[in-house]
Amino acid sequence: MNPSLTSPIQWPAEALWQALAPSLPGFTVEILPEIDSTNSELMRRFRGSAGMAPRPEPLLLVAEQQTAGRGRLGRSWQSRRGGSLTFSLGLPLQPADWSGLSLVVGISLAESLDPDPGAEKGAEPGSPRIGLKWPNDLWLSSPQGYRKLAGILVETASWEGLRYLVIGVGLNISPVELSETTAASPLGAMAPGCLQELLPGIDAPQALLRLLPPLVQAVQAFGQFGFAPFQARFAARDVLAGQPVQLSDGNRGEAGTAHGVGENGALRVQTATGMKEITSAEVSVRPLAAPSPPKDAPAC
Ligand code: BTN
Repeated sequence: MNPSLTSPIQWPAEALWQALAPSLPGFTVEILPEIDSTNSELMRRFRGSAGMAPRPEPLLLVAEQQTAGRGRLGRSWQSRRGGSLTFSLGLPLQPADWSGLSLVVGISLAESLDPDPGAEKGAEPGSPRIGLKWPNDLWLSSPQGYRKLAGILVETASWEGLRYLVIGVGLNISPVELSETTAASPLGAMAPGCLQELLPGIDAPQALLRLLPPLVQAVQAFGQFGFAPFQARFAARDVLAGQPVQLSDGNRGEAGTAHGVGENGALRVQTATGMKEITSAEVSVRPLAAPSPPKDAPAC
C-alpha cells in the first residue's frame, strides 16, 4: 500500500503559527485527520451555535482527508490523503471592494510555488510554469498543454457588519497513480497536474509552509489596496489571454476572445456584440481549445 495513505504526516503547525501570529492576532492552526469540507467547517464555526455570537478568529484548518470537498459552482472536489493539500484559512477582512480577491489568492499561490524562473538563479530556461485561469484555478503547463493543479473556493459570511472570509485551497501534490485515474475514468481522461512535476519531492506540509505566509500578506494587502496593484501580476500568468473562450451560466452561452482582466479583476471578453466584463462568480469560462503551453516547456 502507498505509505502516504498510512504513515503520519508531520505538519509544521508550530512554524506556521510563529510565522503568522504577529500579523494575525489570535491566529490558531488546527489539523484534522478527516472532515467533510474545511470550508464548510469554518463557516459552521463562524456562525457558532444557536444564540451565541459568531467567532471571527483567524484560523487555519488543514484536513488530511475531506469526505465532501466542495468546488465552485456546486461541484465536488476530490483529494487524496498525502497526495493533496486541502486547507481553509478563515479571517476577518473589511476591504472597500471585494472584487478580484480570488485572483489575488491565485497570484500569491502561483508566485510562491513558482517564482519567476527568469529571476531565479540557476533556473532552467523553459522550466515548468504555473499559469492562472480566471477566476480561480492554477494550471500547470506541460508538453500536453495545461492541466489543473489547484482550485480556490472563496466564501464569506457576515454578522452585524462583521465580514468573515474563508479561503479554501485544494492543491494536487503527487501524481495520481494510473489505477486511480482509470478507476475514476475508464476512458483514461488526462490526469491532473501535480506540484511534484514542478518541485520534485515536495510534500503537502512543505508546500503549506511555503505558500501560507505570502498568502496572508497578499490577502492583507488586498484588504488595504484592492485588486489594482495585482493586475499586472495576474496578466503575467493569464493563460486565457488571447484565447477563444466560451461563457456559460448554465442557461446561456456566448463565445469570444479573452482580453485579460480589468482593475477590478473582471475578465474582459471580446464577443460579437462588443467587449463584455465578466464579474459573476456564477459564470464559467472554458477555453474553446486547450491553450498551448509556452514553446520551451520541457517534458515532466
Ligand atoms: C474549484 O476548483 O472549484 C475549487 C476547489 C476548492 C477545493 C478546496 S479543498 C479545501 C477547501 N474545502 C473545500 O471543501 N473546498 C476547498
